Amino acid sequence: MLAAFSDYIVPLQPDADTFKAALSSRGFDPEASFVAVDDDEVIGFWNVATRNTKRYLIGSGTRIGHRGRGLASRLGMAAIRAAENAGIENFWLEVIEGNAGAERLYRKMGFDVTRKLDCYRLDHPSPDRSSCELSDFGTVAKVIQRYSTWKPSWQNATESLCGAQLTPFLHEKGGVIIGAGGLVHQIAASEPSALEDLLAAAATVGSLTLVNVDSADNALCSLMQRLGAHRFIVQSEMRLSLPNVS
Ligand SMILES: CC(C)(COP(=O)(O)OP(=O)(O)OC[C@H]1O[C@@H](n2cnc3c(N)ncnc32)[C@H](O)[C@@H]1OP(=O)(O)O)[C@@H](O)C(=O)NCCC(=O)NCCS
Repeated sequence: MLAAFSDYIVPLQPDADTFKAALSSRGFDPEASFVAVDDDEVIGFWNVATRNTKRYLIGSGTRIGHRGRGLASRLGMAAIRAAENAGIENFWLEVIEGNAGAERLYRKMGFDVTRKLDCYRLDHPSPDRSSCELSDFGTVAKVIQRYSTWKPSWQNATESLCGAQLTPFLHEKGGVIIGAGGLVHQIAASEPSALEDLLAAAATVGSLTLVNVDSADNALCSLMQRLGAHRFIVQSEMRLSLPNVS
């Protein structure tokens, strides 16, 4: 993974524990995943997760010296065939805008863009938790589900957060769930002023990173802009709907 991502569009060289934790929280499924091997060395991989009738590409890569020979295409086709045989309905993935090679590859396999997802870094100008209270994960997750107009991407879905160290804040009109390192996993409110209060409360833990905000969420995106957040990545979420082969 480290070799395949050594020239990636953004720096991505996790240590072993971080990598394992990311695989495990996303629901890595070895039965659904494939590697290409040459002389006992892994030269390409498709790491895939399963949840109910959905599969998700956690990551794919080919070592630099082995690219352009169709390895990723073959690994992807094997993963898609396995998904079809397992009765999976939809295969999901995300690709960073600007990773043209990978996006072309996924389009060739039949994936289509479903929505754009924005990633932000925010040093909030005035952290303040006075209008929110700390609460438990279940309560806040329910409130967020009630007010959110969009579904969190795979890595921020409630199933991915179980077991993680979280700080959930409750507001009378919304909620926010923050993870390690100030990662804002989920946030939603019934009105923009509550969203503003929630972000101010979240910022009391430190600098914030929001990964995969639905770009159609005008209230949240314009608030991020107003607070001076830096949009550091835009991703395309892609989906392949599979025919029912059973
Ligand atoms: C993306 C990546 C996995 C492709 O691996 P690969 O084994 O070289 O891919 P393939 O040989 O199967 O190429 C398949 C198709 O991908 C596309 N493609 C791959 N690399 C490309 C590039 N640099 N520029 C343009 N198209 C590219 C082409 O459409 C190619 O089709 P072709 O047969 O018509 O040329 C590899 O470049 C990689 O590991 N990149 C770094 C990590 C990464 O970006 N992973 C994807 C994260 S979403």
